[in-house]
Amino acid sequence: MSKVAIITGAGSGLGQSTAKKLAEKGVHIVVVDIDEEGGQETVNLVKQAGADAFFVKADVSKADEVKNYVDQTVEKYGTIDYFFNNAGISGSGKMFLETDVDEINKIVEINMLGALYGMQYVADVMVKNGGGAIVNMASSAGVMGQATVVTYSATKHGVVGMTKSMVAEYAKDGLRVNAIAPGPTETPMVKKYFEDNPEMKESSEQGIPQKRLGTPEEVAELVTFLLTSDAHYINGDVIRIDGGFTSTK
Ligand SMILES: NC(=O)c1ccc[n+]([C@@H]2O[C@H](COP(=O)([O-])OP(=O)(O)OC[C@H]3O[C@@H](n4cnc5c(N)ncnc54)[C@H](O)[C@@H]3O)[C@@H](O)[C@H]2O)c1
Repeated sequence: MSKVAIITGAGSGLGQSTAKKLAEKGVHIVVVDIDEEGGQETVNLVKQAGADAFFVKADVSKADEVKNYVDQTVEKYGTIDYFFNNAGISGSGKMFLETDVDEINKIVEINMLGALYGMQYVADVMVKNGGGAIVNMASSAGVMGQATVVTYSATKHGVVGMTKSMVAEYAKDGLRVNAIAPGPTETPMVKKYFEDNPEMKESSEQGIPQKRLGTPEEVAELVTFLLTSDAHYINGDVIRIDGGFTSTK
């Protein structure tokens, strides 16, 4: 029987690369995103890789829309084996005292509440079905402090906290929950930014011991490992994937 994964923010970047990687292992993917066009693109990529997929449009910061993507998954496949709780946004890059309250609210709603709602509805199904594996998307900013990302960093530290505490409550019920903390990774959005600002690319790479950005494929490999049974004794951990970026922090 094929395994079933839900991936939020699967219409682009790290969600899309992970959907492709899991599909190559025969995993069926429920593609969740607010962006319909990107979502459909991912559905096509999964099908090209030989697995099944469908798209559910959802804003992860709305609890009823989260419930809907979980309900639709159970209706179609009867179960949820894997969950990549990935959707997230960054901020404007302003210093904290110049950041307006609407921006703070939006980042917290999507990155923190969205992740909590997703974990609650998905874990409810997993625990009733005897278990499952979840990977929550944190960031280097979830394990260290950095300028211009105070709110983003708060939400990603929150993601690390919710990961550890879920394990304390539900590992006994067969749940594995881990977080990943990527450093700067060359997703299409980051690539475009660096094409427009080549001097920023240079300085970013210089700050990374391996002197290059990560790739979406490297992150997809890690998530696939953590979700699948090869990682069956890794639980409540935060795995950094950042070329050594946070190693000295
Ligand atoms: N790219 C990096 O360098 C990097 C590093 C560390 C962590 N991350 C984290 O990885 C995750 C994915 O980032 P990415 O780089 O792939 O970005 P991305 O912008 O390429 O992809 C994010 C996807 O999430 C979707 N999304 C945004 N808000 C949503 C919402 N409210 N509901 C549903 N979907 C929504 C977007 O439409 C998009 O398809 C984020 O949580 C981000 O914080 C990224």
